[in-house]
Amino acid sequence: MIPSTQVKTEVLIEALPYIQRYEGKIFVIKYGGAAMIDDELKETFAQDVTLLKKIGIKVVIVHGGGKEVTDIASKLGIESRFVDGQRYTDEAMIEVVQMVLAGKTNKKIVARINQHDGEAVGLCGIDDDMLRVKKFSESGHDLGFVGEVVGVNTTYLNLLLNHSIMPVIAPLGIDDRWQVYNVNADIAAASIAAALKAEKLVYLSDVEGVFVNGTLIHSINQQDANHLIESGVISDGMIPKIRSAFQALKAGVNKIHLIDGRLKHSLLLEIFTDEGVGTELLETSISTT
Ligand SMILES: Nc1ncnc2c1ncn2[C@@H]1O[C@H](COP(=O)(O)OP(=O)(O)OP(=O)(O)O)[C@@H](O)[C@H]1O
Ligand SMILES: [Mg+2]
Repeated sequence: MIPSTQVKTEVLIEALPYIQRYEGKIFVIKYGGAAMIDDELKETFAQDVTLLKKIGIKVVIVHGGGKEVTDIASKLGIESRFVDGQRYTDEAMIEVVQMVLAGKTNKKIVARINQHDGEAVGLCGIDDDMLRVKKFSESGHDLGFVGEVVGVNTTYLNLLLNHSIMPVIAPLGIDDRWQVYNVNADIAAASIAAALKAEKLVYLSDVEGVFVNGTLIHSINQQDANHLIESGVISDGMIPKIRSAFQALKAGVNKIHLIDGRLKHSLLLEIFTDEGVGTELLETSISTT
């Protein structure tokens, strides 16, 4: 056998136990950062999720898209403002968020996946009252129509998954008075993973994982994470990721990983190889390095 053929067969054989283990299981993927912007990465992402689905994994995608919201809002003469990393969302901005995320961004992702025959359907948290929210009030700042998830209706999601359809979800929610809210995509993904009792929740981001003093750490538990947030080592957009991820872990999601979406096929590497990539979140730590 020529070496490259041997490598290919070894990789496939290494994947076999994972394929067997994950058939029929639910994976929730938070899709964000460069993987949503760069053309090549968009393409490899669509291939990866289609492959996962074709081997029998029930894939759910929750996407971000803040950059596109900022761009379109600015074209409409609406300025974006952020408070503690969260978008200040007034009446004009929630219209833009809904139009861009549930319309343009969501449908582009769906179309690309379907070019690979991934059988994706696009929806947002308003559909079937999937993400029920109330006004976010934790930070002490008024963020306008930024919602905090109070409930997840999984009826329609399960219906789609049981018919082998891949839901692609824009992070919008609705309150008990039918007001639409903007929801942080990390939090939306974690809430959906928890409600579905997903096997795995993967955050694709523009960083290899969690860094402490310049070193990538391969696993982290909640106690260590809390200390790192308090000391400012974990900051900005990593905070909602880590906080929501630990909530999902507590709620019964089996495995949670933060991986580098800038690396082509990182999703497949994490799922199907023994080494794994990025940072895994653990209930109790075996090691933090
Ligand atoms: N300790 C840390 N380790 C790694 N990244 C960190 C840390 N603290 C803060 N960060 C920042 O968190 C960022 C990841 O969150 P960010 O919200 O920017 O990305 P995203 O959620 O993938 O994208 P989007 O919010 O646009 O969907 C990293 O790019 C990094 O700048
Ligand atoms: Mg983010």
